[in-house]
Amino acid sequence: MKQFDSILIIGSGGREHSLGWKLSNDTGKKVYFAPGNAGTENNINIDSSDLLKLFEFAKKKNAFTIVGPEKPLSLGIVDKFEEGHMSIFGPTRSASRLESSKVFAKLFMRNRDIPTSPFSVFSDPDSAIKHVESYPKNVVIKVDGLASGKGVFVCDDVKAARGALQKIFIDDELRKSGKRVVVEERIYGDEASFIAICDGKSIIPLASSQDHKNIFDGDKGPNTGGMGSYSPTELISNDLENKIMDKIMRPTIKGLNDLGTKFKGFLYAGLMIERGSNEPYVLEFNVRMGDPECQSILSRMESNFLIYLEAAVDEMLDSMPPIKWNDKHSVCIVMASKGYPEKYQTGKVIHGLESDFGPNTHIFHSGTKKNSMGKIVTNSGRVLSVTSLDDTLEGAMSKGYSAASTIHWGENEEYYRRDIALKGIKYSKNK
Ligand code: GLY
Repeated sequence: MKQFDSILIIGSGGREHSLGWKLSNDTGKKVYFAPGNAGTENNINIDSSDLLKLFEFAKKKNAFTIVGPEKPLSLGIVDKFEEGHMSIFGPTRSASRLESSKVFAKLFMRNRDIPTSPFSVFSDPDSAIKHVESYPKNVVIKVDGLASGKGVFVCDDVKAARGALQKIFIDDELRKSGKRVVVEERIYGDEASFIAICDGKSIIPLASSQDHKNIFDGDKGPNTGGMGSYSPTELISNDLENKIMDKIMRPTIKGLNDLGTKFKGFLYAGLMIERGSNEPYVLEFNVRMGDPECQSILSRMESNFLIYLEAAVDEMLDSMPPIKWNDKHSVCIVMASKGYPEKYQTGKVIHGLESDFGPNTHIFHSGTKKNSMGKIVTNSGRVLSVTSLDDTLEGAMSKGYSAASTIHWGENEEYYRRDIALKGIKYSKNK
């Protein structure tokens, strides 16, 4: 196996901060972030889309590179590094189409009999409107291209569907990403995130987790990138995990291989577990770790993470033992700028970060930076990922909310959901 002097993490969110925290703890190696945030050290000022500069930096530092967000993957960063014989963990541009084109992903699933809801594809508003007006069930509308979690419209009625199509086709709010849409039948149930490490042949699933996509408590309001997560979730039983592996994960890797495309990296199936049947349906694929799922999953991992990532790059996952997890519960609460996912302000000084949160709470930074006075300020919609670990889910929630309550950047400027992981407690009670 190749030896590396350092690790390069591409991206700037809470996911990347937690990846760096875990890899640095496990290996003691220097971890660079491009571009990172105010919570990460060894930040380098290279944009995550500047593939050539990232390649040159990784080469100079003899770094093993891990890609956080989808954009550089969709631009072909892995192809670029592989051409130059540099080790990088993530899928190629071609394999990344599972996330970068919803149309590709839905057609792929239909062709391979991977469970997903029935759908049609449209590129003009009139046909799309006619379709939603005559379709007998509620629909979900998804723009084809990448949209940072903002391209999915879950519609309660025809009026909402018309509104979504207006935003996409007439107001052009999603720009290039919204030139085509998938209109799919809405499935009702509970969502879960199923994420695995893949090497093109073998698949090692990570611990189960559940994200909270809507902005408001009780899963109300528009979708966001994710407002909080917890791990594990009792929604995913052992039987259900086996079904997900057999019906979704293995056929996906095989289907891509049949197309001549090896999938190496994190394969993330965003699932709906249908109410009543308890059957898993794929809502979407992502080709990277989830954010904020990563923060709660990695808080529970006991194994040395890097050796799994290296084994995946070297196509040797089949020789690896299962990953070890602690038997604790983790909860990640995303603190956001008030107004997110719509309009919000940035540049607000964050107070309380220096508090003593105890050994089992980590404040992973998402959208933060240092201002010219050296103070840590808000810099995006999602600002901090407060992640706590405890023997019980209730305990992890209580630790997380107690920590979040000591951090402030202005009563009318900050926001977080108050019900992260409550669903998990409900599942345990219903068992
Ligand atoms: N938490 C959802 C995502 O990472 O896309």
